[in-house]
Amino acid sequence: MCGIVGFYGKQDAIAIILEGLSALEYRGYDSSGVAILDEKHLLKCVKEKGRLKVLEAVVKEEHMVGSIGIGHTRWATHGVPSKENAHPHLSEDETIAVVHNGIIENYLELKAELVEKGYTFVSDTDTEVIPHLIDLYDEGDFENAVYQALSRLKGAYALGIISSRYPDTFMATRKESPLVVGVKDGEYVVASDIPAILSFTRDVYYLDNHEVVILDKGHLRIQDSQGHLVNKTVTHIDWNKEAASKNGYSHFMMKEIYEQPTAIRETLGRRLDEKGHIHLDGIKLQKEDLEQIDKIYIVACGTAYHAGLVGKYAIEKLARIPVTVDIASEFRYSDPFIDRKTLLIVVSQSGETADTLAALKEAKRRGGRILAITNVVGSSVAREADDLFYTWAGPEIAVASTKAYTAQLVAFYILALHFAYTKGTLTEGGYTDYIQEVEALGTQVEIILSEKDHIQDVARILVEATSAFYLGRGVDYTTAMEAALKIKEISYLHTEAFAAGELKHGTIALIEEGTPVLAIATQDHLVEKMVSNMKEVKARGGYVIAIAKEDTPHIQQVADQVIEIPKTSDLLMPILAVVPTQLLAYYTSVLKGNDVDKPRNLAKSVTVE
Ligand code: M6R
Repeated sequence: MCGIVGFYGKQDAIAIILEGLSALEYRGYDSSGVAILDEKHLLKCVKEKGRLKVLEAVVKEEHMVGSIGIGHTRWATHGVPSKENAHPHLSEDETIAVVHNGIIENYLELKAELVEKGYTFVSDTDTEVIPHLIDLYDEGDFENAVYQALSRLKGAYALGIISSRYPDTFMATRKESPLVVGVKDGEYVVASDIPAILSFTRDVYYLDNHEVVILDKGHLRIQDSQGHLVNKTVTHIDWNKEAASKNGYSHFMMKEIYEQPTAIRETLGRRLDEKGHIHLDGIKLQKEDLEQIDKIYIVACGTAYHAGLVGKYAIEKLARIPVTVDIASEFRYSDPFIDRKTLLIVVSQSGETADTLAALKEAKRRGGRILAITNVVGSSVAREADDLFYTWAGPEIAVASTKAYTAQLVAFYILALHFAYTKGTLTEGGYTDYIQEVEALGTQVEIILSEKDHIQDVARILVEATSAFYLGRGVDYTTAMEAALKIKEISYLHTEAFAAGELKHGTIALIEEGTPVLAIATQDHLVEKMVSNMKEVKARGGYVIAIAKEDTPHIQQVADQVIEIPKTSDLLMPILAVVPTQLLAYYTSVLKGNDVDKPRNLAKSVTVE
């Protein structure tokens, strides 16, 4: 939530900051702002409500020239989206400027103390306490004032700080919220995420919690919370700006839907040795460890949680280990049964989701072993885990997750197969057959994508609807949940997912003439039951759209529309069944004229609890 960018160098700071912010708009986009130290060493600040382009237009009118600056794109937590609540926030004399991503949990207490001391607040934000605190502690030593202010803060933050009182210095720090520093030829870009620095450099420092960046008179220092120097190594990012651009597609979401065959192949292919066996570099769990483990928790949020639900089917079926799946924000407060025999698998595309990170830390505290599935190298989740599985999906920019989800499913299939083979719960033949089927999924997704025009036609039905129901049985129910989240998120159509057998226990009362009902029916042993459920819906006037394997008996006779998908093992069907639902959500959103990549009220990376 919220994106921050800072620049310290010799070039024009504004151009680099604005470009960085545009790459971070996925983190929040209700308002934005920039502040620079100009040629006369004065602090200039501009902020606006609305998308970044509104700010860009205003900045053009202003004369903002300088080579040190900070910028922010906001997702509101404290205070409505408005110019006043937009960042940067300033000290009363407008000489200190701060951008912040996160939440200062004790801000009310700090605000009361500062008001008592005579400070005036102009916003409703938690952030505004920070410039006032720095001012309070400033006795001629910027670094000391910032350190003292930091010692008063509780909560999560990534901060960029500049001051016209110290025109050669830039400071930044993080606790729980991400921050990276890009370096090139004595110039630096500090940002919440890699895409913001890619046009500048691919060499970065990943900051750890409590580390403080000090750029002073052209030199970089990274210190710990006590002020001791920290030695860090530069990481070279192996993807480029093109991977984080639309590359000819109208939206990132469509590009990412089309990148799924590659994401699937990359995630699997990098793990197969010359014998076609799975080899997992980041997983240190040995046979003896697996034999000790008596239960697995999978914990995640949103789409990643849905991937976890599929993961449960795969691990239980193949490796015969009981799995509980929980929503991260609930797990943490549920007094879970975690001990040294528990493996906790956290799933997070960004690796920065606050609830998931908090759940991970809680499980660690209770003695559990942590395995992380994440898409972002060096993310917080990756750094906290004992065992690590990177999905090689490449950067996912659209708020609605697509390729990260299918890559997460591949990750779970690989893990389940690896656990099963190691434990001996799967024969050599079963193991190699499944691996071959996972290898074929990329091509099968391509076949589904080639049918996109049919899916676009089906979307016209959803555009007219006021609500819709998505049904499935067994593992298809998890696909229904993910599909319903996707369409809600970007097309704002009220959609509920149900286990098809549950419909008659209440929800069927909502079916009216023409209500669209998407029925996912890919599981051989459950298809007949699904057909009966579709008939029940038809009998009440519902309009049935079915997603089924090609040549499934009776479906064509019952459903109003059928989207056929290629065949694979029932366990692997979620990867194929989800693709038409992503396209349905996409086209419905486009037909409604919505902002597909940046849906209302949302942000890509949810770094607040
Ligand atoms: O980065 P994460 O995978 O931890 O994010 C979790 C959810 O916020 C995310 O999957 C969200 O539900 C997506 N926007 C759904 O498309």
